[in-house]
Amino acid sequence: MAEPLIRFERVRLDYQGRNVLDELSLDIAEGEFVCLVGPSGCGKTTLLRLLAGLVAADAGQVLLRGQPVRKPTPEVAVVFQDYGRALLPWRTAAGNVSLALEAAGVPRVQREARIAALLAKVGLGCHAGKYPMQLSGGMQQRLQIARCLAQQPKVLLMDEPFGALDALTRQSLQDEALALVRETGATVLFVTHDLEEALYLGHRVVALQANPGRVAAEVEVRLPWPRAQLSTREHPEFLALRHRLYGLVQAH
Ligand SMILES: Nc1ncnc2c1ncn2[C@@H]1O[C@H](COP(=O)(O)OP(=O)(O)O)[C@@H](O)[C@H]1O
Ligand SMILES: [Mg+2]
Repeated sequence: MAEPLIRFERVRLDYQGRNVLDELSLDIAEGEFVCLVGPSGCGKTTLLRLLAGLVAADAGQVLLRGQPVRKPTPEVAVVFQDYGRALLPWRTAAGNVSLALEAAGVPRVQREARIAALLAKVGLGCHAGKYPMQLSGGMQQRLQIARCLAQQPKVLLMDEPFGALDALTRQSLQDEALALVRETGATVLFVTHDLEEALYLGHRVVALQANPGRVAAEVEVRLPWPRAQLSTREHPEFLALRHRLYGLVQAH
């Protein structure tokens, strides 16, 4: 197998003397969409923070293209569940996207066109001048995604990004996320507590167990692409995988 884009190698992490992750190993190939499920508190967010360079492992290592991750890099972007707090309330939609471009050193003359293209990509082309509080939850989450895409990340980390949205908005964002990922070729590590969402989106679903957090089980999702809300969820393989995954998660 080719060298994985991302490798967690026997990672251990303690918070204040408490062992949160231990002997956690996980490889992710370039272009893969991996969903991470597991009980609350098992260390899913911590795993993302390790890969984002926001926290360091106490043992083992986290590698990106074979290089240890030591600090945040624009190559890795994080979409948080809490879009309300991730966005700057005093900046418009355009201003929030601009922030990422400014941070990346994109010259002012290029920014306007890039902002318009990014907002259009997430369906916010007509809302450039609105402030976050004037946008619905789904629109705010789209805006956060546009801001992440502005840094042209190779890796997109998504931490229960659609958990706070209503079911219909959530489904359209799932499909938009799949389309964006296909278009950008990004590698995705997506945390969700929704097993069906994990199966719908992923090439692979990884289940973590708690105390200490480590990989408990993995499921390859061999469902046809592109995924479609009705036919994918009614596919016999989807139902079979759903049964298997529920069984695996309950067992831990
Ligand atoms: N900054 C922190 N300081 C101390 N403990 C933390 C910190 N962040 C997370 N934890 C603890 O580490 C464990 C894993 O947390 P987290 O990764 O957020 O879990 P998950 O995302 O799976 O719900 C939890 O027990 C949590 O309380
Ligand atoms: Mg979490």
